[in-house]
Amino acid sequence: MGDSDQHYWVSNPQSASRKKEVQLLLPDVDLSLTTDRGVFSANQVDKGTRYLLMEGPSVPASVKNILDLGCGYGPIACTLGERYPDAKVWATDTNIRALELCRLNAEKTNSKNILACLPEEIPEDISFDSIWSNPPIRIGKESLHELLLEWLNRLSPNGSAHFVIQRHLGSDSLAKWLETKGWNTSRRGSRKGFRLLDVTRRESDEES
Ligand SMILES: C[S@@+](CC[C@H](N)C(=O)[O-])C[C@H]1O[C@@H](n2cnc3c(N)ncnc32)[C@H](O)[C@@H]1O
Repeated sequence: MGDSDQHYWVSNPQSASRKKEVQLLLPDVDLSLTTDRGVFSANQVDKGTRYLLMEGPSVPASVKNILDLGCGYGPIACTLGERYPDAKVWATDTNIRALELCRLNAEKTNSKNILACLPEEIPEDISFDSIWSNPPIRIGKESLHELLLEWLNRLSPNGSAHFVIQRHLGSDSLAKWLETKGWNTSRRGSRKGFRLLDVTRRESDEES
């Protein structure tokens, strides 16, 4: 990890800007994305993010609102924006430089359905049919738990969340913890030290 992304979750990175382009090539999507110092994985699309985008589920055509939680410069949001042009893709991050890049990348990819904004700018009455995240594990366990529960609580009744987490950063204990908090959590995949987790509401919650 270089200097530029040691504190990728700060709200206003002070490192001097040095923009560059990275490629995201997937079977169905080919994007050139602008990155910068001070944002997560500025030198290449993160391997975990790529894995999530390769192996994550197809989202039903009827979805209205998708959330990319911790969007960074937008590889997940821009991919989902292209895949699901009829859905709104909300991309949120606390890092202002990352959000600006996400907006720029959405414009470059010509996706009109991506809304990049601070968490507090997302209207409170919106629920999400699908949440995708390469979550900010490094903010610390307590903050991460709080963050995940906050947004999982905004899943629509039949919605599902999809996370990619490194095994050595605690994916398995996080999965167990989510279960204790009442969320069905299953492992979609495991490769090269990454786990993909699918999270849904327990049935009793769906009925209430
Ligand atoms: C592991 S990075 C993933 C970035 C991007 N999705 C990607 O795959 O390249 C996690 C992101 O979460 C952001 N983040 C940290 N705390 C946050 C919070 N409370 N709410 C939203 N995003 C947050 C960080 O700034 C960072 O951009």
